[in-house]
Amino acid sequence: MKPSNSRPTLSRRNFVKLTAAVSVTAAGVHLLDTYAPWLDYDQQAAATAQPFEKEAVMPDQMRELVRYATLAANGHNTQPWQFALRDNTIEIRPDVSRRLPVVDPQDRELWISLGCALENLLVAARAAGYAADVTYPTADDVITVRLAADTPQPSPLFDAIPLRQSTRSAYDGQAVPVADLEKIQVTPLEPGVTLRFVTDPAGMATIVEYVAEGNLRQYADQAFVSELITWLRFNKKEALSSLDGLYSRCSGNPEAPRWLGRMFVAGTKPQQQADADTAKLRSSLGAVVVAADADDKVAWVRTGQVYERLALTMTALNIKSALLNQPIEVAELRSQFQSALGLGGAAPQLLVRYGYAAALPRSLRRSVAQVLI
Ligand SMILES: Cc1cc2nc3c(=O)[nH]c(=O)nc-3n(C[C@H](O)[C@H](O)[C@H](O)COP(=O)(O)O)c2cc1C
Repeated sequence: MKPSNSRPTLSRRNFVKLTAAVSVTAAGVHLLDTYAPWLDYDQQAAATAQPFEKEAVMPDQMRELVRYATLAANGHNTQPWQFALRDNTIEIRPDVSRRLPVVDPQDRELWISLGCALENLLVAARAAGYAADVTYPTADDVITVRLAADTPQPSPLFDAIPLRQSTRSAYDGQAVPVADLEKIQVTPLEPGVTLRFVTDPAGMATIVEYVAEGNLRQYADQAFVSELITWLRFNKKEALSSLDGLYSRCSGNPEAPRWLGRMFVAGTKPQQQADADTAKLRSSLGAVVVAADADDKVAWVRTGQVYERLALTMTALNIKSALLNQPIEVAELRSQFQSALGLGGAAPQLLVRYGYAAALPRSLRRSVAQVLI
């Protein structure tokens, strides 16, 4: 009989099996950790969009206002902003290291992004009990918001800030109740900025045609595709380490290692992209063009404010939206698009589609500490 305390001996074959099993498990854990989006991404996304800390007092309250400002829409999720806190004033400045020189050579979308952040900041400031006085950018490239104590004005738009997202999936075709459509249509404007709602088949056909043409031109442009790839985050590891950029799952795409994702995007045929966006537009209930009488920094900031206000209004009504700016970003198409839609002297700035859909994962933001100067 074998002594009961004899140590089990591992045969060579079992040792090889065990080693193989351990390697496979380790590789599995590594893959899961790298590409399984549900592990710590959701935790980070929840922290990004946590509710406003109402009990915070100055100066922490200013930091909360900045955090809510950073939840705004912004081109390629570059988060092209910096904030400075001085007494009761918050300054918003462009972060030029985050420019998009190919798709946005004039910094038009950069300033629109700052306008989106400004709008979130103003909505949050009113809810937190401040009246705000805004100075728009001049030669010094700064937006200044002076805060003075006032009665708190909570609003559905404030509650919508952490819920708003760009939902780039196809929509389900369910109609928007007339009463809700009316609420969207009366979104308050800024001086010089207009909203053109398009729901008629002829208008939608024009939009489909121009978005398709915009896609054909952009995806045939190597510089556009390369710039886009630098801001794509193909898996949660990339998204979590940069806390910016366009994470695959936020656009309804699967996770991939960078080499594979890059190969896939670089190999996208312009026509494939055009067809995909045509299908998304056809699933949408309508489109909205944000236009402005001027094409300068102030007009762009005010455009961003109106767009963010519209997006928050839709979010409060559980309506999803996404931007498709191709015909405005391609310089040669922009004025043709303006004429085709009969916008007169108003330059198109943003093109929005809307409808109903399930929410996609929330995109991340850098911390307040990373955007304060
Ligand atoms: C000026 C501007 C231009 C944008 N253009 C597009 C676009 O053409 N296509 C798109 O899918 N999203 C576009 N977006 C949306 C951003 O990619 C999005 O806001 C950003 O990735 C952050 O994600 P979130 O809106 O879900 O928070 C744009 C946003 C802004 C402010």
